[in-house]
Amino acid sequence: MYMGIDLGTSSVKILLMNKSGKIISTLTKTYSISFPKPLWSEQNPNEWWEVTKTAIKEILKTQDKSLLKGISFSGQMHGLVILDENDNVIRPAILWNDQRTEKECDYLNNTIGKEIISNYTGNIALTGFTAPKILWVKNNEPENFRKIKKIMLPKDYIAYQLSGIFATDMSDASGTLLFDVKNRTWSKEMLDIIGIYKSQLPKLYESYEMIGNIKPELAKEFGISNDVKIIIGGGDQAVGAVGTGAVEEGIISVALGTSGVIFAPFNNYKVVKDNALHSFAHANGKYHQMGVMLSAAAAFKWWVESINNKQDYDLINHEISEINPGSDNLYFLPYLMGERTPHNDVNAKGCFIGLTLSHTNAHMSRAVIEGVTYALNDSMEILRELGINIEKIRISGGGSKSNIWKQIVADVFNAKVSTIEITEGPAYGAAILASVGCKEYPSVDIACKKIIKDTETFTPNNKNVNIYKEKYKTFATLYPTLKNSFKIL
Ligand code: XUL
Repeated sequence: MYMGIDLGTSSVKILLMNKSGKIISTLTKTYSISFPKPLWSEQNPNEWWEVTKTAIKEILKTQDKSLLKGISFSGQMHGLVILDENDNVIRPAILWNDQRTEKECDYLNNTIGKEIISNYTGNIALTGFTAPKILWVKNNEPENFRKIKKIMLPKDYIAYQLSGIFATDMSDASGTLLFDVKNRTWSKEMLDIIGIYKSQLPKLYESYEMIGNIKPELAKEFGISNDVKIIIGGGDQAVGAVGTGAVEEGIISVALGTSGVIFAPFNNYKVVKDNALHSFAHANGKYHQMGVMLSAAAAFKWWVESINNKQDYDLINHEISEINPGSDNLYFLPYLMGERTPHNDVNAKGCFIGLTLSHTNAHMSRAVIEGVTYALNDSMEILRELGINIEKIRISGGGSKSNIWKQIVADVFNAKVSTIEITEGPAYGAAILASVGCKEYPSVDIACKKIIKDTETFTPNNKNVNIYKEKYKTFATLYPTLKNSFKIL
């Protein structure tokens, strides 16, 4: 039996899986998040640990505990956790969605220079990434900066509590901007730029590697064996991709969650023009390119629940299916929270474009879904420029419950779209990594091949593919045209 722990932003999810990939049990427990100032987003690492510990005890209560062999993790990425010489948390963790570091990013991207930063790390500075947060602490809380003995990412704090080992993995390290993605090592140059030492950073492992065993006192407290192995796991996107079997070139994962993610595995390191996509290490020991849009299913939820004051998604999906592809020339830009990739523009806004008296509410609903899908296609186009052969898309997240949305994704991307049997995402991926770390499978890729199965597949409809090709061309002109107006809104 293997345990996957997904340390999310609003909750921790624990999942138990048997050796053939069957789910035995899952349990989710929430914790608090605070927004102490505009643009700030923080959590207390001790609360993560207390809630996680309680959840582990609770899920194991009804199980044969002697069967547990390994534990691994998926975690919200980029968050800054800093400990002092006594291993006390110095200040609340600064999370991935915290936007306080605009000045620090400006320094890194413009004073040091994007090209230099990209040469060192494969990426450029974004407000969410970890290195700008460390610089922020240095600039704004020098007394805290001086106390730092250990710098770690959210899931690493839990692994540290469980094992006593100060470790991280390559996929999560990729989102720090302190990591040389190409060579899978900390970047000496970046550490110098930020003003930190390698001894303050955790030892690097591949996501499927064992870092140690559970601490004996915790083994006793949980009633499990001292031999239970701790496998480091990875960032939630890479581990989620393991959970959907997106580990081979050509199998792309599309997650229609609150945010929208396109995740493309690659065997080799690549950087795309203008660093428009994130270039990160994958949890299977290879690489991936990732596009993240900030409002995906969140845009549809906003439209249905906040604007229309409705809950009946089946009815709305039915209405959408009666509207022509392209929504009779109505377009929606989904940048309700600004945009990350590929535009990297905090000022971008949402809007409907092309409204006429003939448009109905159902046209607008369809335009929202199409707009989110076109915006994801912006990242897909960049992947296509890399010459990628898209064999199939594995789709997940709340938006994937809608059949019409899945068909629109198949038609806009001109690719087969499949759903999978087990949709537990990152927690499932973490349990798979635990099984690989315990040598149940020889590699992550082989484990995924054996365990993950498609359920239904949506095939592109040629007529709609041609319509969407034309519509997307128009969509692609809208953001560049409006970009300057967004700045003054
Ligand atoms: C990935 C990212 C999010 C966070 C929170 O780059 O920002 O996926 O990890 O889930």
